[in-house]
Amino acid sequence: MSVCLAIDQGTTGTKAYRWQAGGAIAPVGSLTHRQIHPRPGWVEHDPHELLSHIRTLIGAAPDAALLGLANQGETVVAWHATTREPLANAIVWQDLRTTEMVERLRADGAEALTLERAGLPLDAYFSASKLRWLLDHVPDARALAARGLLKLGTSDAWFLDCLTGHATTDVATASRTSLMDIRHGTWDDDLCALFGIPMECLPTIRRTDGPFGGVAGGPAIAASIVDQQASLYGHGCRAPDAVKITFGTGAFVLGLTGRTPLVNADSGLLATVAWDFDGATHYALDGGVLCAGAAVDWGRSVGVIDTNAPAWDRTRTCAERGLFFVPALNGLGAPTWRRDVRGSWTGLERSTGREDLGRAIWEGVGLRARQVVKAFEQAQGRPVSRLSIDGGLTRNESFRAFLADLFAMEVQYVDHADLTASGLLGLCARNASLGGEPPVDWRMAIPQHAVPERAIAAFDALTGVGQPDGKCA
Ligand code: G3P
Repeated sequence: MSVCLAIDQGTTGTKAYRWQAGGAIAPVGSLTHRQIHPRPGWVEHDPHELLSHIRTLIGAAPDAALLGLANQGETVVAWHATTREPLANAIVWQDLRTTEMVERLRADGAEALTLERAGLPLDAYFSASKLRWLLDHVPDARALAARGLLKLGTSDAWFLDCLTGHATTDVATASRTSLMDIRHGTWDDDLCALFGIPMECLPTIRRTDGPFGGVAGGPAIAASIVDQQASLYGHGCRAPDAVKITFGTGAFVLGLTGRTPLVNADSGLLATVAWDFDGATHYALDGGVLCAGAAVDWGRSVGVIDTNAPAWDRTRTCAERGLFFVPALNGLGAPTWRRDVRGSWTGLERSTGREDLGRAIWEGVGLRARQVVKAFEQAQGRPVSRLSIDGGLTRNESFRAFLADLFAMEVQYVDHADLTASGLLGLCARNASLGGEPPVDWRMAIPQHAVPERAIAAFDALTGVGQPDGKCA
């Protein structure tokens, strides 16, 4: 039976797992890379470091016949078409250097086009403005483009070019660039013209199952996909009433919407491709809380959080006591997209202690995720009947209990807290007809103590949800 290897190249690290039909998923290794911050608001990765971690992990599973690769989404690379040498560091999805460029486009009325064609609002989050920045600022980029020697793409396209010799990307990752026509799965002339990206520099768009080719002397690539969509598959979400939240660096809420994209600017959610195989494209809605694990890390760095698994009295939430933290350290994402808002604590009293400040951060992340799930329900016009969670923060039992109480429903989770690899392995198995997918051992967090509506309403007002133009109280 073929051994499948899943490599999840994420924002903070690269993780690998292996699986064989009939067996259990086993970890292969995990490597972290440097976070480079040349200026406030800028976030970069060294592409060579990421690729060398991918190669090391492929080398650690020499018997793997099939490889599934997940990427960190909107992160971009510019590289030389023949030497494959990157021209600069990768610009990471969190990077805000193109905010002004995006605001100028918005002032020119460009958002109507991005929404209509790509299904996305205008925001520095997506790849298009970052690729334009590379073209404008990296020496030689334009000269290489003029000679047909420049490649521009999301990080997966550079990895795949180096691993297989072909610059390809998949339709789900391409749907995060703001350069793809979401209905046709092709690069769009008008979007490329809007952002000034020469279409010939972009990689070829493939379905989730490729063809991507194979790694020289190594496994065939059976699936390549953006990490949140891999996770959606791993959560077993196959119908529009099932929603998953992955609490990683950010918290990403995704649920399927069917065979046509649900583009609805008012919802504040992003229409995105979930996956494409067997000749059918499946779409999802996606809402990102852009700062989740990153807020907890920050809380740790300033000394208000000192354990990964604090134990809380379930009946005395900070929210109930009027103490809130707004986790907007890099602005607010879905559903209001107020990137100018910054983090804050409110409701401080003389009795407020260090632990309360820390707990309010965790609760703020949960409350933000709830806003996105509610926006999803509104956009779909029906309630979510199955909610599942994963990501590092879900290792904390008190946080899981808080989420069950906050959503007032059972919340499914897994002990190992990571379903991206399961999704990748499932996609590989499906695409290679291996018969069966890795089983998921679900646990359940049960609601016990509802978080009062008034507390939820107070947090919504603080974050501008339900207010005209997202105006925050
Ligand atoms: O949109 C960014 C997202 O895909 C990154 O996920 O898990 O690498 O933080 P992660």
